[in-house]
Amino acid sequence: MSRGARVVVDGVSKAFDGGRIRALNEASLELEPGEFASLTGPSGSGKSTLLNLIGALDRADSGSIVVDGTPLDGGDASEYRAATVGFVFQSHNLIPTLTALENVQVPMLGRGASRAERVRRARGLLGEVGLSARADAFPGTLSGGERQRVALARALANEPRLLLADEPTGALDSATGGQMLELLERIRRERGMTVLLVTNDDAVAARAGRTLGLLDGRVVGASPLGEPPGSPGPPPRVR
Ligand SMILES: Nc1ncnc2c1ncn2[C@@H]1O[C@H](COP(=O)(O)OP(=O)(O)OP(=O)(O)O)[C@@H](O)[C@H]1O
Ligand SMILES: [Mg+2]
Repeated sequence: MSRGARVVVDGVSKAFDGGRIRALNEASLELEPGEFASLTGPSGSGKSTLLNLIGALDRADSGSIVVDGTPLDGGDASEYRAATVGFVFQSHNLIPTLTALENVQVPMLGRGASRAERVRRARGLLGEVGLSARADAFPGTLSGGERQRVALARALANEPRLLLADEPTGALDSATGGQMLELLERIRRERGMTVLLVTNDDAVAARAGRTLGLLDGRVVGASPLGEPPGSPGPPPRVR
């Protein structure tokens, strides 16, 4: 059984500043259900732009993004954002006036769960990221690594089939970042989610099942790990 989403990005372009900045130029990629892929590239190469488009936080100028057979441009994306995708940002984006336990519940609001049910699920998620003891702490009193773990728990609030993580270890020291990655890998394995992880760190990228890069607005480098270039194997999934 896989709870992971299939993601097909086909020829997506996105420009800013009236076309002066071409962040993405017919970028394409496919993610299999449950796949763990990393995305690297120089600063400004369009990594966050691509993640924001896949997460329906922004709209492409052209091209298509289809998740589990449904095109993202088909109107109201709020249900998709709430239920299908989880997002972990480089800076944790937690609400400072809410406790860890309350922050994790934010994506659950308005989705029919009772308060007791929300609290139960949020406690379970905080337990999964090893923060049961800090449930009532405010973000300002948490360490950077702890904040990112709360942010991961929040991203999992509605059991997404796709997790998009934009440099979730970028602001952490390497030991703390390594712990965060191990947690992410474990949670992905247990849930079978599809994960797309943006990172500027090659060592981090190499831990994914497949490493993708962004160059000149396009996705490059698609060989599944263990398949040297040119060896027979599955057909390339990136055009
Ligand atoms: N809202 C925006 N308005 C104008 N330009 C933007 C906007 N968002 C991104 N850009 C530009 O698009 C390009 C791609 O930006 P993006 O944030 O996707 O890069 P990135 O690969 O995530 O970089 P980094 O590694 O520094 O996070 C950059 O030149 C950036 O300045
Ligand atoms: Mg970025």
